[in-house]
Amino acid sequence: MYPDPSSRSAGLFDRACAVMPGGNTRLAVYQAPFPIFIASAAGCRVTDVDGVERLDFINNQSALVHGHCFPPVVAAVTAQVGRGSCFSGPTDTEVELAEALQARVPGLERMRFTNSGTEAVMLAVKAARAFTGRYKIAKCEGAYHGSYDFVEASRGSTPANWGDAKVPARVPYSKGTPPAVGDLTVVMPYNDVAAAAAILEAEAGELAAVIVEPIANRPGMIPATPEFLAYLREFTQRTGIPLIFDEIISFRVGFAGAQAGYGIVPDMTTLGKLIGGGFPVGAVAGRTDIMGVFDQRRGSPAVPHTGTFNANPVSMVAGIETLKAFDEAAVARINRRGDEVRRTIDGIFAKAGIEGQASGAGSLFRIHFTARPLTDYRSAYPTAAGQSAVAALHRALLNQDVMVSANCSGNISTVVGDLEIEQLLGAVTRALAEIRVPA
Ligand SMILES: Cc1ncc(COP(=O)(O)O)c(C=O)c1O
Repeated sequence: MYPDPSSRSAGLFDRACAVMPGGNTRLAVYQAPFPIFIASAAGCRVTDVDGVERLDFINNQSALVHGHCFPPVVAAVTAQVGRGSCFSGPTDTEVELAEALQARVPGLERMRFTNSGTEAVMLAVKAARAFTGRYKIAKCEGAYHGSYDFVEASRGSTPANWGDAKVPARVPYSKGTPPAVGDLTVVMPYNDVAAAAAILEAEAGELAAVIVEPIANRPGMIPATPEFLAYLREFTQRTGIPLIFDEIISFRVGFAGAQAGYGIVPDMTTLGKLIGGGFPVGAVAGRTDIMGVFDQRRGSPAVPHTGTFNANPVSMVAGIETLKAFDEAAVARINRRGDEVRRTIDGIFAKAGIEGQASGAGSLFRIHFTARPLTDYRSAYPTAAGQSAVAALHRALLNQDVMVSANCSGNISTVVGDLEIEQLLGAVTRALAEIRVPA
């Protein structure tokens, strides 16, 4: 049972605290009173250092769309490491992965690789600024686009400081963020066309980019309405402001990303997670003219971009094998499972007489303890009671050997079958029967 103070995880966390602040080097994987240290994994199951095996619906925050140790990835990576893991020179692997992505998604005319989604977003912002000669970035309230100051504002807003719903406050996420950063960030409500329009139209002359997630992950796994994205596309096209879709999470919901489902081609797209097949990766991609800011062939580029591990061939071959197996049929299969999971969880709540629902799209889901419509950061922001119910559900699932993120979000990999879906839904049913949900 978690948490067991005599477990190896507890002991490792004690050791970790002596060498790392908070015993942690990655906030997203911390859970109180200590995180579960992992020993190994295969397919959709993870084994911790105490020998407990759990069904994995986290998949390293959705980076492993084919689960752990996907044989084609293991084979390609093993072979690549045998040939060399990184070089001071490009390889054919980066060309191949870029070609594979370009062939899938119409708007990815040119791209550059990075080692994380955060870097991809940072480069998209830098490119948009260099291209337009303007500085301000508009983003949606509560959205997470990685650990880059200029897109962090309002990520941690609370009812105590978030201000007017129609004009959300630019609350800095990290202490020490220079006020100048806030001055260059414009925060708009998600899925509210009229309120977003009022803000954006007033700022149009100073905006370098508008960045949005087609499915807002951290704010609540909430799909954008078609009207909202259509408005952003119309506004940015009319004003000549690059529209950036952050598809680092949402890419998996369609063969060509979430953007294809909306019928919108953004000017730039940021990618990460699954396109590296479980290895560090990010990509910034988009229109040839905007991406030209990185082009060094006519002298020093407008945005110099380098990085020791950019397009390292290990991540590239893992990404190539992952995309090959993530064909239309695979996307449709896990999306159907996602629909089933969300629909069934809604039914489980109804049957248990508890207010709650599952949000998400495609193979992404998140469980909430509220019945109100979830449209944006504020509507999905849990009450204190809702927050403790989420924590209790997370704990109850963990102790039935089912892993979802601490906020009860998850994703379905291609190696999950009917039995695993049954295990998840059975665990949710039992957990909801057993946890006390405060009124
Ligand atoms: C939408 C979105 N953008 C950016 C990032 C940052 O990516 P990375 O963790 O690879 O830096 C994340 C990570 O979860 C994300 O969900």
